[in-house]
Amino acid sequence: MANQFKEKGKIKIAIDVIRTFWEYYLDALYYKRYSMLMNKSPKNYEYQILLRLHGLEKGICMPDSRKFGQEKIEVLIDIMSKAKIIGEVTTGYLMAEGIIREWIELFEKNHWTDDPVYQKVKLNYNEIVSDDAIDSGIIRINKEQILEKVNGNFSDLCYSRHSTRRYSSVPLKNSDIDECISLAKMSPSACNRQMCKIYWIESEQLRSVMESIGLGLSGFSKETANYLVITFDMKAFNYYGERDQGYFNAGLFVMNFTYALHYKGIGSCCLQWGQAHSVEKKIKNILNIPQDEKIAVVLAAGYYDDENIVPLSHRRDNEEILYRR
Ligand SMILES: Cc1cc2nc3c(=O)[nH]c(=O)nc-3n(C[C@H](O)[C@H](O)[C@H](O)COP(=O)(O)O)c2cc1C
Repeated sequence: MANQFKEKGKIKIAIDVIRTFWEYYLDALYYKRYSMLMNKSPKNYEYQILLRLHGLEKGICMPDSRKFGQEKIEVLIDIMSKAKIIGEVTTGYLMAEGIIREWIELFEKNHWTDDPVYQKVKLNYNEIVSDDAIDSGIIRINKEQILEKVNGNFSDLCYSRHSTRRYSSVPLKNSDIDECISLAKMSPSACNRQMCKIYWIESEQLRSVMESIGLGLSGFSKETANYLVITFDMKAFNYYGERDQGYFNAGLFVMNFTYALHYKGIGSCCLQWGQAHSVEKKIKNILNIPQDEKIAVVLAAGYYDDENIVPLSHRRDNEEILYRR
């Protein structure tokens, strides 16, 4: 009888393993079908526009004034024209008009008007940019204004947080990071499994490894940035239905952590983590992170500088987010 149970247990494990592979395979097919990777259908214009315009928005924040964005502007205008033909004039579309207006103004301010892409865009300016263009570009925030808001109410806290990419040179205090962890760990997690961990990269040698990985670090003050690697422990998950739980739980955790940092006067920015399995494996070895943890995201962080310039990053209308069924 006992042997029979053992045998049944083994069969169940084998079925679960096969099912897990199958579900990952289906994930891949699903991704191929619906993501931007292959699907350039009209339904995707909004995201293609938002993605391109953000690159330009960030470029405008860069402290050094140099010509940039000619190729991105041309691609953006091309997607916008396709979106317009089918009447997809969404918030993202109007934000893109705003960023084109900013880009043109920047080129004029810097006397780069001999640039052929500038000239082309300028020639068709009235067709590309309408009166409904949404203000884009940058906002300047100083440290005092930020700190005034963070101890107020929740909406002040939310509206005053922006991803910051330049930081003061004051080293992060252990006590501040400790308090932020205490607040971050109050985020919900599936069955309270609390599978997220933070690796604070302190050694100079490892910091330079972080900078060499190819994270989205352009425009950052690398000398003063601190790097916090957020992982989730794969051991926490039970079956195929939980295959995406790690990223979801890490997202909740990182959001709480980011607000906690802001509350302590620490600016931060998530850095996209999109590495191949082989690269991730190598980096985890170097950083001494166990292989059964997955890196969800890296945060760059540091105390707010006295003056900060950040992209305006306008948000879509609520009607574009809430659908009643
Ligand atoms: C998962 C994730 C990855 C991100 N990766 C980067 C990045 O690699 N480089 C960067 O400069 N900003 C990055 N950001 C910051 C976003 O650009 C920023 O959150 C967005 O534009 C909204 O602006 P806000 O955070 O100032 O409100 C990332 C944000 C998230 C949530």
